[in-house]
Amino acid sequence: MSGKVVNVAAIGCGVIGSAFLDQLVAMKSPITYNLILIAESTKSLISDDYEPLDLQDSWRSALQASQQPSLSLKDMLQYLKKSPHPVIVVDNTSSVHISNFYPEFIRGGISIATPNKKAFSSDLNLWDELFAAKPTDGLVYHEATVGAGLPIIGTLRDLIQTGDEVEKIEGIFSGTLSYIFNEFSGIEANSVKFSDVVKKAKALGYTEPDPRDDLNGLDVARKVTILARISGLRVESPTSYPVQSLIPKALESVSSAEEFLNRLSEYDDDLTKLKQEAAAENKVLRFIGKVDLSTKEASVGIQKYDASHPFAALKGSDNVISIKTKRYVNPMVIQGAGAGDAVTAAGVLADVIKIAQRV
Ligand SMILES: NC(=O)c1ccc[n+]([C@@H]2O[C@H](COP(=O)([O-])OP(=O)(O)OC[C@H]3O[C@@H](n4cnc5c(N)ncnc54)[C@H](OP(=O)(O)O)[C@@H]3O)[C@@H](O)[C@H]2O)c1
Repeated sequence: MSGKVVNVAAIGCGVIGSAFLDQLVAMKSPITYNLILIAESTKSLISDDYEPLDLQDSWRSALQASQQPSLSLKDMLQYLKKSPHPVIVVDNTSSVHISNFYPEFIRGGISIATPNKKAFSSDLNLWDELFAAKPTDGLVYHEATVGAGLPIIGTLRDLIQTGDEVEKIEGIFSGTLSYIFNEFSGIEANSVKFSDVVKKAKALGYTEPDPRDDLNGLDVARKVTILARISGLRVESPTSYPVQSLIPKALESVSSAEEFLNRLSEYDDDLTKLKQEAAAENKVLRFIGKVDLSTKEASVGIQKYDASHPFAALKGSDNVISIKTKRYVNPMVIQGAGAGDAVTAAGVLADVIKIAQRV
């Protein structure tokens, strides 16, 4: 045992938050991680004396039985600032309200680990505020905001801090769109319709409840914004560069996901034609995010790749990123599951460990 103790405040107990808490509770480590707060939107568990929460059988049943309402962020900050040990807030939500509050946490000396993309892909001023830290500020780690548990952000930061220069980043950053395009446009020619693949992806639970939230390209654009900013390209926002939406204009405003899916087949022809053109050149279609440092441009959209390209052979819903730098003339390629509870939670927990080692 190192004798070091850190206090952990975990916000969000959904898919990722639950897996994170299970992994944290099960972890053996020379550093002691005391859970002092667990919060959902309305309900929470809070340790009044900053001793580890008494979780009895499990954090789930303890939270379920709790009558304690969640604190406002201001009250949470006041509570955490009085902690006798360094504090890490783990934000396992997708809340903008919480991510806009990160600067107040870090100015209070509280560190953040999170898979929530919002703070890092919105206003550039917020990005600057989070990473222009003073020595007394808390630390901010967000590995799981791109590629879930894949070692992308830490690797990119290490490359840059050691003096390498990023020239180009290209990748498939959405598990959903990876699956859809791998099925729609494979190395072997097929007659699969785009609308049918989207329906299948929805039935398998790979899409958001409304698949338009995947098909609009915004989630990929948020990840590209993060990668661009780390690489030195000061992208204003995920909407400040070309982002291709796969939603036909006429279906953007239909009221329900059901109606959208029912009518999507009316618009299959354009993508079928594009797929056939690619196949005639022995190529496949993939939905790509790209950052080109030589032209200082970011983009998101469909690209054609040779059947021999690593992106063409992608399977299932894997993510892949290719990073070309001054040193890595042959690009470094990182590939694997880019979504899922266990891998994403592990990415967040690994950030918690890195913070605990540094504070
Ligand atoms: N799922 C993946 O594979 C994956 C991969 C990479 C990154 N991520 C990111 O991970 C984050 C969590 O995703 P998820 O799939 O776990 O979402 P989720 O299942 O919808 O869970 C969200 C959790 O956040 C809580 N929450 C929301 N607003 C809150 C607030 N203001 N205060 C306290 N708690 C609040 C919700 O509590 P209530 O139910 O009480 O509202 C719920 O427990 C997101 O930012 C997502 O983009 C997910």
